[in-house]
Amino acid sequence: MTDDVGAILVVDDEPEMGELVREILQERGHRVRIASDGREALKRLAEEEIALVLTDLRMKGMQGIELLGEIKRSRPDTSVILMTAFGSVETAIEAMKQGATDYLIKPIKTEDLVRVTERAVREAALRREVQRLRREVHREYSFHQILGKSKPMRDVFDLIRRVADSPTNVLITGESGTGKELVAKAIHYNSERRDAAFVPVNCAAIPEALLESELFGHVKGAFTDAKTDKRGLFEEAQGGTLFLDEISELPLLLQAKLLRAIQEREIRRVGATRAMPVDVRIIAATNLNLAEETKAKRFREDLFYRLNVIEIRLPALRERREDIPLLVEAFLKKCAEANHKEVRGMAETALALLMDHAWPGNVRELENVIERAVTLARGEKILSDDLPPAIQGMRGDRRVLDEAADRILPLDEVEKEYILRILEKTGGNKYQAAQMLGIDRKTLYRKLAEIQGKEEGSGGLA
Ligand SMILES: Nc1ncnc2c1ncn2[C@@H]1O[C@H](COP(=O)(O)OP(=O)(O)OP(=O)(O)O)[C@@H](O)[C@H]1O
Ligand SMILES: [Mg+2]
Repeated sequence: MTDDVGAILVVDDEPEMGELVREILQERGHRVRIASDGREALKRLAEEEIALVLTDLRMKGMQGIELLGEIKRSRPDTSVILMTAFGSVETAIEAMKQGATDYLIKPIKTEDLVRVTERAVREAALRREVQRLRREVHREYSFHQILGKSKPMRDVFDLIRRVADSPTNVLITGESGTGKELVAKAIHYNSERRDAAFVPVNCAAIPEALLESELFGHVKGAFTDAKTDKRGLFEEAQGGTLFLDEISELPLLLQAKLLRAIQEREIRRVGATRAMPVDVRIIAATNLNLAEETKAKRFREDLFYRLNVIEIRLPALRERREDIPLLVEAFLKKCAEANHKEVRGMAETALALLMDHAWPGNVRELENVIERAVTLARGEKILSDDLPPAIQGMRGDRRVLDEAADRILPLDEVEKEYILRILEKTGGNKYQAAQMLGIDRKTLYRKLAEIQGKEEGSGGLA
């Protein structure tokens, strides 16, 4: 019964007592360990998973109450039950105040021992279950730093788990900033290759002339600058993963060499006469449509099929808006800590703007927006004002119109609501509001006076 939560540790300086308790509990299917003093008990606790400690109160050396204090300090999740002689019940009650789960009075009746112990074990099991569920929830919303609770992201997490341990090559596609590199790392660190290297190469960033020797290495004298032998990135990734980012930028000549390396599982350093075997998993990424590149003959079809054994397509942020609050919260926390600022949240209006934005730069853009906002924020909350003008601007106000159409508002009502909404956005700054509305300030004042007049006339709020 104690198998899934850990053993029961009995601490008593009288060996017979320990043995007796052990016998009773073992008979009920529990795993029991014995320690003859506090010091030995602490050693046991450090070595083995212990769910519950039953300790005598009066012992030579460390007293039961001290042991209790030490356990509660270093491993608060471990339950402690005190065993005490009749005369020291008050000490036992004191121990309860200090976090003991229960106490037993000597001479201990078998039924009391079993009842009290098993209740504590059940509670320990429950605590463990709660912890497990908590971890699970956490895991569902994030996977190796990749955050997301939307269906498309959960599908991505699932796919990562399933492909990680297979030897197949993976192609990750998705717009810029959707997290392709994060996913590549998650695959590597979930695979059997995790102890070998993850080597990222940005095919667009390395000059064409250098790319071959970067990837495959060279031997001394292969070309003018080759003063020594040099290992290539393929060799660096031996036993691990080579992440070829922006694979569409790989020149056709190198596409042929890459194809050969994948097919033959061997590479040849530039200028070398002999090939050497390599064991490398290839993960490639692109933000282009590689199938189209293939049709246009800019990318080799045979290589495309070799790389695209499994495709993981990352959704654009606008396709999974329900993840925005989660990402905002995480980035906010991270940026606030990094900047030592006490920014804790975001005004509803600001979050609404973020929910509405199109996010062409995806998660990277969102991260930058939050970083900027945290830097600008004056108080504990990020306000609409702290967001870039492009996000604060008119574009987001489609929602106001949708709402208005739903409620079938007359035109002057729409105008009123719209003006008030923009004013809210500018934090009451009429100058800025007039600018955003494309009217001069006098017109705005007049319209506001009209709104106010109307509301007063109708006994409205104002
Ligand atoms: N789901 C996510 N959860 C948390 N952070 C994310 C997520 N997706 C992306 N990011 C963050 O956004 C930034 C961009 O991610 P990454 O570099 O992986 O994107 P990419 O798809 O490789 O972009 P590019 O095509 O421009 O290279 C990184 O800082 C990354 O940590
Ligand atoms: Mg990238």
